[in-house]
Amino acid sequence: MTEAPRRWDETACGVANCERCPALVDSRSQIVNGVGPTDADLLFVGEAPGANEDEQGAPFVGRSGDVLDEGLREVGLARRDVRITNCVRCRPPENRDPTTDERTNCRGYLDREIAAVDPELVITLGKVPAELLLDRSVAVTSEAGDIDELTVDGKHWRLLVSVHPAATLYDPSQRAVFESALQAAAEYTGDGGQSTLGEF
Ligand code: URA
Repeated sequence: MTEAPRRWDETACGVANCERCPALVDSRSQIVNGVGPTDADLLFVGEAPGANEDEQGAPFVGRSGDVLDEGLREVGLARRDVRITNCVRCRPPENRDPTTDERTNCRGYLDREIAAVDPELVITLGKVPAELLLDRSVAVTSEAGDIDELTVDGKHWRLLVSVHPAATLYDPSQRAVFESALQAAAEYTGDGGQSTLGEF
C-alpha cells in the first residue's frame, strides 16, 4: 500500500523575519525554525540554537543533535519521523541562556507551531523548555519520563519531560535517563516506535 505523503509545508510553523530581540538580531546569522513533518506524532522542543544551528539553519545539528539522533535510532525512530524545534529561534550571544524577555518574545511562534503540528506528545529537552511550557520550576533529572499537561490557548497536549541531550555529554549517568525518556516518548508514535521511513 502506498504511504500517504507527509506535509512538509513550513508556513504555519516557520518565522520568516523577526526583530523583537535586539541582542539576538545582532548575534544571529539566521532564524532557526523547526524541522520535520508538520504532522509529526512527536514534537521535541529544545532551548535555543547554538553555533552549528545558527550556521546551518536547523535545530540540533551539532553534538547535541548527534546524541538526539542516536537516541532516536535506539528506540526505532529516525530524525525525519519527528519534529524538532526550540523555545527561541535565534542564537543567543556566547551561547548564554535566552533571557525571560527573549523566551516571552518567541513564545507565540512556539505556541503556533505546537497548534499546527498538533502532536501526540511534546517532549521538552532540558530545563528551559520544560519550565517555559509548564510555567513552574522543574527538576529535570527526577521528572524525566513523567507525563504532564501542556495548555495552549485552552487546548491541551501531553508533555514528557526529558533531560537535554547535551547533559549526557557532561555527565554519562544522564545517558540512561535520556534513553528511558526517549523510550517512553516512542510509545506515542503511531506505530509504537517503528520508523516507516528508515534511517535519515
Ligand atoms: N541545543 C538546543 O537546545 N537547541 C539546539 O537547537 C541545539 C542545541
